[in-house]
Amino acid sequence: MSAIKHVASPLASQTLLDGQLTRPVAGVKPIRLLPWLQVVKIGGRSIMDRGPQAILPMVEEIHSLLPEHRLLILTGAGVRARHLYSVGLDLGLPVGSLAPLAASEAGQNGHILAAMLAPDGVSYIEHPTIANQLAIHLTAARAVVGSAFPPYHHHEFPGSRLPIHRADTGAFLVADALGAAGLTIVEDVDGVYSADPNGAGGDKATFVPETSAAELAGTAGTLPFDRALVEVMATARHIERVQVVNGLVPGRLTAALRGEHVGTIVHTGARRN
Ligand SMILES: Nc1ncnc2c1ncn2[C@@H]1O[C@H](COP(=O)(O)OP(=O)(O)OP(=O)(O)O)[C@@H](O)[C@H]1O
Ligand SMILES: [Mg+2]
Repeated sequence: MSAIKHVASPLASQTLLDGQLTRPVAGVKPIRLLPWLQVVKIGGRSIMDRGPQAILPMVEEIHSLLPEHRLLILTGAGVRARHLYSVGLDLGLPVGSLAPLAASEAGQNGHILAAMLAPDGVSYIEHPTIANQLAIHLTAARAVVGSAFPPYHHHEFPGSRLPIHRADTGAFLVADALGAAGLTIVEDVDGVYSADPNGAGGDKATFVPETSAAELAGTAGTLPFDRALVEVMATARHIERVQVVNGLVPGRLTAALRGEHVGTIVHTGARRN
């Protein structure tokens, strides 16, 4: 007769699928790894694709923010990823092949931004470094740049032909996992509107200064960030709110990082304590 060897761990001898059993151990709020960190997601299409006209003032603003904040700056993909998607889709490539291609484009934008900020000691770092060595990098420099895309790559969910976990979702996931002080999403619009302000009938769109992930989940229209972000925000552990700001207006990012309400604040499902 063989006996079960019991390991002295409260989760060792039970299924991890039973919430009643796991809650006493797994229901505890995780610690904040980098509570002083501010995460800033810079739009690929909205900022980086515009070239010097949008990038240079943004570089200037980030430069002046450095004495005040320690930043993880994450860049999105832009028009090159859209071209990749269309070529890849024409060839019938699966979403798991398209996701890493788009992610590499977000990385290219990060390299561009990091090069412009290099005189301030800023460099581009890869995902494994963000995961394991961010603290030491941000002890040596006030900011680092990385790709906002989450590394789902060939594990991307197959439900859609286009990757659903894109730059905004990636930036949020890493900010929440690190227990960062905040996440600011930089766009080319003032924040969230009732409909796309640049789309058909956009002149009738109204600005939404404050909303919540729960409220957005009940809407069907487009948003200035990934739909998947709405879902991810609902189960957040640390990041209680995200602010979407217009990066084409100098000073908005600075004000947002100081806690001012200058764009759209989206409340997540995370609760204090
Ligand atoms: N409800 C909405 N409110 C505000 N903007 C919207 C809305 N729906 C769509 N948009 C559009 O989203 C655009 C931003 O596009 P998008 O979010 O794809 O760019 P990005 O964030 O720079 O891209 P990436 O995620 O690749 O970094 C805005 O310029 C706006 O026209
Ligand atoms: Mg966006």
